[in-house]
Amino acid sequence: ARFSDEGVLLKGRRLLVTSGPTHEPIDPVRYIANRSSGKQGHAIAAAAAAAGAEVVLISGPVDVPDPRGVTLVRVESAQDMLAAVEEHLPVDAAVFAAAVADWRVATASGQKIKKDGEGAPALALVENPDILSAVAHHRTLRPRLVVGFAAETENVVPNAKAKRLRKGCDWIVANDVSPATGIMGGDVNTVHLVTGEGVEDWPSASKAEVARKLVARIAGALAGGGE
Ligand code: CTP
Ligand code: CA
Repeated sequence: ARFSDEGVLLKGRRLLVTSGPTHEPIDPVRYIANRSSGKQGHAIAAAAAAAGAEVVLISGPVDVPDPRGVTLVRVESAQDMLAAVEEHLPVDAAVFAAAVADWRVATASGQKIKKDGEGAPALALVENPDILSAVAHHRTLRPRLVVGFAAETENVVPNAKAKRLRKGCDWIVANDVSPATGIMGGDVNTVHLVTGEGVEDWPSASKAEVARKLVARIAGALAGGGE
């Protein structure tokens, strides 16, 4: 599509985007989290809305401003995020940019855990549901295009290729978060787009620019019936 068509690229399409970290409660005042800022996921939701899509953004706790023109659903934990995602299917395409906590505390305490003079408490962890994989393998409501992210600090592309196959998604946006490149929380991103066709190395760019480029690719795939 030409540049002037940008505002209508996704007209009539429904998109779902996950963003941010999740918070997994330990007790009423403490939680497990990670360094995700939500900047990239929020930028994708904003770019999709600017391209004319109806966008549902399901976000963990972040400090970035709410994007314009999207339906924002705020969640805390991975389990809440999964429920919110399933509630908003069907969509034409789904982009999973959230850094979902891999583990949660098996049984969060209902009361603040107190020092009892007998040493530190042991936290038993259990694995969280894999939201991307659940949607990609959905028997009836799988979106036509499912896009995952992979934040890696080493072996970026091989890890992302393996992840694409394991999770059953169409594309993986592999994110180099080693200190030399895509410092987590920054405004610049260095990504590789891994599809069934191969790997594209995208130049380092602002998260807004990466978002616009990804949204244009999603529009192309939905329009072409491709992948
Ligand atoms: N993801 C998800 N639900 C989870 C874990 C991850 O939806 N419980 C999604 C992320 O949003 C991302 C993709 O899966 O789109 C890859 O996340 P990542 O953390 O890189 O992969 P994992 O499978 O958790 O593997 P690991 O962290 O061990 O590298
Ligand atoms: Ca993970």
